[in-house]
Amino acid sequence: MAELILIAAIDQNNGLGYKNHLLCHLHDDLKNFKRLTSGHTVVMGHKTWDSLSVKPLPNRKNIVLSRQSNATFAAGVASMSVNDLLASCSEDEKVFIMGGAEVYKQFIAIADRLIITHIQHSFIADVFFPEIDEEKWIKIKETKHPNDERHAYAFNICEYVRRNQNNKISL
Ligand SMILES: NC(=O)c1ccc[n+]([C@@H]2O[C@H](COP(=O)([O-])OP(=O)(O)OC[C@H]3O[C@@H](n4cnc5c(N)ncnc54)[C@H](OP(=O)(O)O)[C@@H]3O)[C@@H](O)[C@H]2O)c1
Repeated sequence: MAELILIAAIDQNNGLGYKNHLLCHLHDDLKNFKRLTSGHTVVMGHKTWDSLSVKPLPNRKNIVLSRQSNATFAAGVASMSVNDLLASCSEDEKVFIMGGAEVYKQFIAIADRLIITHIQHSFIADVFFPEIDEEKWIKIKETKHPNDERHAYAFNICEYVRRNQNNKISL
């Protein structure tokens, strides 16, 4: 099975975006997103694709989820359903689910890992990340980043893995 990783930046209320935009620009978080996802597969919903300023994301296999059979995105970008996506992934593929809200909601039940940037602020938002249930997920890593001249808000990048049935960590 491919490894499925949800990657998102959320505010203190699990807010993800507003009017089809991100809530804020955090330079080092975007750099980390690029570092982690480069060379791998990124999966996004149609609205997140529409919101990107640079597309497709370079050096990554881009997959856009759409139910519109006639939708076209860009050369080399596949548009498919969730079942087709899961069937098309190879065993050793790292698949980063990069939003938005509708897509995270469908994948959180089957994801192996979550990489969540917790932004230390509350924004006005109209789309939200699902609740991270502590009975299902355990935080194994946290990197803190202060606010500074390039970052209006402090943030913590956290990695969660799914607890197994014996309440042990599945790494
Ligand atoms: N903070 C973050 O980390 C982050 C990350 C990503 C996005 N965002 C934000 O999230 C917002 C967008 O999220 P959203 O929930 O509105 O939209 P979305 O999840 O990006 O896209 C929804 C669309 O994806 C397609 N889709 C969803 N599930 C599908 C399925 N099972 N099979 C086939 N197609 C499927 C449909 O497209 P069709 O209409 O073509 O059928 C649907 O309308 C924006 O504000 C964006 O900035 C935030």
